[in-house]
Amino acid sequence: MSETPAWMKPAPDRAVPPPEIDTSVAHPARVWDFWLGGKDHYPADREVGEQILKALPDFAVIARADREFLGRAVRYLAGEAGIRQFLDIGTGIPTANNTHEVAQVVAPESRVVYVDNDPVVLAHARALLTSSPQGVTRYIDADLREPGSIIEAAAQTLDLEQPVAITLLGIMEFIPSTGEARGIVNRLMDAVPSGSYLAITHPVPGQAMNKAARLWNESGATPVTIRGEEESTSLFDGLEVLDPGIVQLPHWRPDPDTQYADRDFPYFGAVGRKP
Ligand SMILES: C[S@@+](CC[C@H](N)C(=O)[O-])C[C@H]1O[C@@H](n2cnc3c(N)ncnc32)[C@H](O)[C@@H]1O
Repeated sequence: MSETPAWMKPAPDRAVPPPEIDTSVAHPARVWDFWLGGKDHYPADREVGEQILKALPDFAVIARADREFLGRAVRYLAGEAGIRQFLDIGTGIPTANNTHEVAQVVAPESRVVYVDNDPVVLAHARALLTSSPQGVTRYIDADLREPGSIIEAAAQTLDLEQPVAITLLGIMEFIPSTGEARGIVNRLMDAVPSGSYLAITHPVPGQAMNKAARLWNESGATPVTIRGEEESTSLFDGLEVLDPGIVQLPHWRPDPDTQYADRDFPYFGAVGRKP
């Protein structure tokens, strides 16, 4: 029998993390998991997560609102927009309503490629590979800063002659330079045809968010950059931004199940279409 692939190995025992997992500093995927009420984080993640909640108590709710945005955006893309291929970069630790689960309820034949660079996400990737029989899911352990490698690997699963929805939810803030962030988005969108989509969620400036970002950056974790309206809009250059535009997460096409539709959060969600 061939050797078990890395992603098929059992999830890490949190008491004794495998050596490739650095538990000494907070990691984005694990702090996000803490805010979402998951179990896959360590003391350093909790400590920073709690400090940030003191500066911005809404952060746990923002993480949930981001997941709700994912649900509404993917349902729209698989439904009304007719998309059957998804490239979800910065997947995070699997939780409820992962992209393939949402898409395949609408269109069971949906093909979904997940990408993240965190070893804990890799260790849990098995939970993302539970495709419907008609569809496909695949996990790629790769870095957003190397979009060419992501495209090359994704092309083994997705037909890049057909439209693809690329989702970059809660990840672009880890690319410090807006120039580099735009270059990455352009490289990804250049690889997919007209009729493809881009969804982004991203923190925006505000007193509490700026303080939260400062605390995060002082912790030694991968630093974040908060982007204002002009810089955020520039990530959608060359795309048609769908209504209602670049808006606070709960205000993007709320449906009857949207829990936070009446709330204001310093975090935007938007979807653009490649003409
Ligand atoms: C805040 S979490 C968001 C998770 C998920 N997209 C969501 O919206 O719920 C950010 C994710 O991006 C991943 N990430 C950050 N920088 C990355 C990079 N350069 N390449 C690949 N993944 C990255 C982290 O490991 C983490 O899983």
